[in-house]
Order: sequence, then C-alpha cells, then structure tokens
Amino acid sequence: MPHTSIVLIFSAAVAVAAIVAKAFTTPKTRIHSSIHAVRTLLSPPDIPTPALLHARSIPNQCLVKALGISSTFVSDDTGIHDNFTREAKVLIGAVSAKEGWSRLVDIAEICVNRFLNAKSLDYATFVQSVTLSVVLAGLLDTDIEDLDPVDVAFVTKAINDRWAQSKSSTTPTTEVLDCINHHIMRWVPDQTNPLNLIIPAYETMWRVTAIAVVYSNRDSVLRDAFISYNENPTDDQFHTFANEGTRAQPSVEAIICEVLQLHPLTRHITHAVVVPWWKRPFVPSIDVADIEEAHKLPLFGNDPESFNPMRFHVSHAAPKRDQLYAFGHGKLKCIAASWAPPAAAVITAKIMARLDDIAFKLQEGPCIGKREGWEGWLIQGV
Ligand code: HEM
Ligand SMILES: *[C@@H]1O[C@H](CO)[C@@H](O)[C@H](O)[C@H]1NC(C)=O
Repeated sequence: MPHTSIVLIFSAAVAVAAIVAKAFTTPKTRIHSSIHAVRTLLSPPDIPTPALLHARSIPNQCLVKALGISSTFVSDDTGIHDNFTREAKVLIGAVSAKEGWSRLVDIAEICVNRFLNAKSLDYATFVQSVTLSVVLAGLLDTDIEDLDPVDVAFVTKAINDRWAQSKSSTTPTTEVLDCINHHIMRWVPDQTNPLNLIIPAYETMWRVTAIAVVYSNRDSVLRDAFISYNENPTDDQFHTFANEGTRAQPSVEAIICEVLQLHPLTRHITHAVVVPWWKRPFVPSIDVADIEEAHKLPLFGNDPESFNPMRFHVSHAAPKRDQLYAFGHGKLKCIAASWAPPAAAVITAKIMARLDDIAFKLQEGPCIGKREGWEGWLIQGV
C-alpha cells in the first residue's frame, strides 16, 4: 500500500475516534419550552424527591464554587431540603404576620432613604443595596444602623462579580468570598452560612424591583398604582384594580406578575440526569425548562411581548397567576411564591414615592438589564 493511503486511513480513524469520543462525553441537552413539557420536567409523575434534588444540584455546583452555598440548591439530601425550606418558611412567615408586614414597610422606607444619599447614583447599585438591606433587616434581623452603605455596595458588587466568574472556567480566588462573608457574619451572627438564605431572596428580589420601577416610571397609571399601594400597603390594595379616569389601573400584583412573565428571572431551570456512559450519545443528560419561552406562548394572549399587566385582570380568560412558571413548579417550587410579589411591591412602592421628578428622577440607560447590563442607568437628584 502506498504510504499516503496509510496516512489517510490513519487520519480518518483518528477523526472517527474523536467524533465518537465527543459523542460520549458532550452532554446532550434537551430544551423544553411548551407549558406541558415544562410542567412535566419540573414535576415528573414518577420521580422521587431525592432524584429531583440530585438533578437540580448538578448544574448548581457553580454556586458552591462562587459563593460557598451549601443549601438544598446544591445538595441531593432530603434532610437538608426539609430543614432549609422549613427555616426559610419560618423567616418569611414572621414577616407576613400582620405586625411584621408593616415592619417590612418601615424598613423598606428607611433603606430607600438611606441609599438616596448623593446627587447621582448608579441605578443597579442603588436597587441592589436597598434590596440587600431589606432582606438583611427584614428577614434576618440585622440592625439597619450596622449597614454602612459603602460596605453594602461592596458586598452587592462582590456577589455579582463572583456570580459572573462562576460561569467562566477559571477558578476564582476565595479572597473576595472571604470579604463578603466577613461582612455578612457581622450582620447575621447567629447563622452558620447566611448566604444560603440571602442569595435566593436577594438575587431575585432586586431584579424584580429594578424592572418594576422602570415600567412604573414610564407610565403614570402604573406609577399611581404603586403610590396608592405605598399609602395603603394592604393585601386588599395589592389585589385591587381601580378605575383612574378613562384608563383602568392594574393592581400592583398584576404589575409584578407581568414583570415576572416578561422577564422571568430564572429564565432556565436546568436538571441534569445521570446517564450511563454508553447511553450518552443517545439520551439527553441535561434537561432545560425554558421558562422565558414558555411564558411567550399564545396562552398568554396575542401580545405576549408587550408590557400589559391588564392581561391579569379577571375579565381575561388567561393567563392566571398559576400559569406563571417564574417560581418553578411542583415539589421544588419556590417557597416564597406568594410572599415575594407583595414584598417586591413594597420596595418598588417606596422607591416610586421618591422618584417623583421633584426630588429624584430615573435616567434610563440603553436597555433593561438582567443580572448585568444596567450600564447607563442613573438616579439623579433634580
Ligand atoms: C420574585 C422572587 C423570586 C423568584 C422569581 C424565585 C424563583 C425561584 C425558583 C424558580 C425556584 C425553584 C427552582 C427549581 O425548580 O429548582 C425557587 C426555589 C426556592 N426559593 Fe425562590 N424565588 C424568589 C424569591 C424567593 C425568596 C424571597 C426566598 C426566601 C426568602 C426564596 C426561597 C426559595 C427556596 C428556599 C427555594 C427552594 C425550594 C425547594 O427546594 O423546595 N425565593 N425560587
Ligand atoms: C435537620 O434538623 C434537625 C433538627 O433541628 C437535625 O437534628 C438534623 O440533623 C438536620 N438535618 C440535616 C441534614 O441538616
């Protein structure tokens, strides 16, 4: 055989081997974006809780690396799951108890005023600082006086940076994490790993609030809804649709739901399944519930992409709150699904009350951000 054919056959064999190896090692991803598929993935009829916890914990391992999280989000232990969710429910339960709720309203007001401390403020930093302070003081009993604005801003930025780094392949040093924990342990001395509880609450709440403020700042009808809620932060007011002149005014609940529908903070919920190596080229080992896509489906009316809180009015057949998947679905659904919307509405209302274009105004940046992407957004003293 001529020398060149041997080389050719050899290279072909190497190429085939590489393709086969890749097929066995690359995880196969399957994306679920219909409501039915999302529901089935998140609440499979025949899969026990430990297996569900395991499927969730694998893609969340980056949280261990980035923030030292050791909660149920990164573990398949049902004991950890039961203890953690029980503790979290106790914390939010204490706030929703009648007296506790008005305490949260007062705390939100103090925090907003505390951080409106300059002529010009970076918008994301402001909302992050207010939200972290409300979570600390409202849920974990930190004394607001101990929350030095410079330290709070440092911690919010450090959490964001760690999060961004966790998506890249480089292993970040623990120095910044140690700094975060140094402050957190001072603020929450009685918990072993306070970030376990702070992260799920803070990371979601600041983003809902930031987006709710943006839409309400653009539309006087939405602004008025929050001003009414600010004056009367009750359950009733939270649910009330009013008639303002000729235009119907959505409830603040509908506005928050609409924020979560158009901007689901957890855009994807990823589950990994352990597949034996010989099946890997054929069976998906990563399942993604595409919440963002599922929310856009026609079920939600014929204008799924425009901001229209009135779609949550009873006069519309769909959607209802229970067709929102922003909090997940099934056994591992968010324990704060009923608590978080009014709490975010309280913070939003307190911010709207100060963004009156007389004392302060919001200067918009190029586009509405996600966890990142809020460059150019400012709060300015008028
Ligand atoms: C608008 C705000 C929030 C959103 C959009 C949100 C979203 C979510 C989602 C999508 C999940 C389920 C993920 C999965 O299927 O694995 C979840 C779980 C959870 N969330 Fe939230 N969350 C919010 C606020 C909060 C708050 C304020 C707290 C605590 C104070 C909290 C505590 C938890 C806990 C403990 C779980 C785990 C539940 C379990 O494993 O059984 N969340 N959240
Ligand atoms: C859960 O809490 C109970 C009672 O506080 C404790 O005995 C148990 O060790 C905890 N389990 C885990 C896995 O943390």
